[in-house]
Amino acid sequence: MDFHLTEDQKMIRDAAREFAREVLAPRAAEIDRDGRFPMEEFREAGRRGFAGFLVPEEHGGSAVGNVGMALAMFEINRACASTGVTLSVHNSLVSAPLLLNGTEEQKAKWLPLLASGEVLGAYSLSEAVSGSDAAALRCSAVRDGDHFVVDGTKLWVTSGSHAGLFIVFVRTNPSVSNAKGITALLVEKGTPGFSVGKKEEKMGIRGSSTTELVFENCRVPAANVLGKVDDGFRIAMHTLDGGRIGIASQAVGIAEACLEASVKYAKERRQFGKPIASFQAIQWKIAEMGARIEAARLLVLRAAWLKDLGEPHSFEAAVAKLEASRTANFCGREAVQVHGGAGYLVDFPVERHFRDARITEIYEGTTEIQKLVIARHLLR
Ligand code: CAA
Repeated sequence: MDFHLTEDQKMIRDAAREFAREVLAPRAAEIDRDGRFPMEEFREAGRRGFAGFLVPEEHGGSAVGNVGMALAMFEINRACASTGVTLSVHNSLVSAPLLLNGTEEQKAKWLPLLASGEVLGAYSLSEAVSGSDAAALRCSAVRDGDHFVVDGTKLWVTSGSHAGLFIVFVRTNPSVSNAKGITALLVEKGTPGFSVGKKEEKMGIRGSSTTELVFENCRVPAANVLGKVDDGFRIAMHTLDGGRIGIASQAVGIAEACLEASVKYAKERRQFGKPIASFQAIQWKIAEMGARIEAARLLVLRAAWLKDLGEPHSFEAAVAKLEASRTANFCGREAVQVHGGAGYLVDFPVERHFRDARITEIYEGTTEIQKLVIARHLLR
């Protein structure tokens, strides 16, 4: 076992740290306050190689692997979780399944556009009737010649407002069990009959957009099927195993931001004639935050490492997401407490981190769903 980073991994971490410091940190509060989609920041991420972490160089990607991506995502999310989730979905939920399941034509067309940041990707699984029970989705696609005709409404689509390519999971066979009759389709923005519906107003990650997608008699070429017809649920689940490593990385980044802000504030803020960092009440909070972050970080890197090796990682990804998201929420709460009244003000970044942390226990599978995945693995 070797915990040292390779030179390439150090390089991508340092490059992401620079991007976070120069581009994201000065704008994160404004992105959150105005609910501004970080499109400009996404394009810049593309120019710096962060929109194609998993894409091979021959398709224009930076091909740094899952460990490299996790290291970069820690840094990016430490500065701006809205940009973080935009990049996580784009890399883990769109480029990754396209690379694994796409035809040569699909890969040649889309991977260079995704990797350069020219096109932003979105992943659309959930509906009003299917959240945690993802296989219950109803949006239908009926074969008509060399097209599928799609009808229905999808919900909770990250980056829906700005994406150019959507991986949409639809029901192609209603007469088999729920998980067996689902297909993944590549849908381009601008396809007639496809529109972006309501945009949600959220508690946190307010720069990221979360939208409804509406399909009305929308004709999608059969050549846009990703993988095999009726094999979409397996693709959705396998993809989410990787996505959960991305959200766990986000959670670690948010937790680190909370710790960093708390250390700074505790050294500056004086009460009873001393910096509050000299009181054990504060030291224990700092120690607990630091220890939990170390544990979560190692779990994320182990899951990413297994994925890079091509080994099973559903269990490890679920464990990493469970622990990292709980750590982010713990650190958000403690960071506000260390700051006292100041932590409750928008003037200090921990207020934003506290709100941003909350979603990490919900999207890409709730804490309860991670426990379900873990328990099924342990009891099988
Ligand atoms: N990899 C590959 N295949 C998998 C798999 C995996 N990780 N997990 C399940 N499958 C396969 C199974 O092998 C099974 O296939 P067979 O019948 O051929 O064996 C099939 O899928 C059905 O599996 P289950 O019986 O386990 O399915 P289930 O209906 O019980 O659901 C679940 C399992 C874990 C609860 C799943 O529904 C789930 O993960 N729910 C949460 C959904 C979720 O995370 N949504 C997030 C939305 S996306 C989002 O938030 C993104 C964003 O924009 C930020």
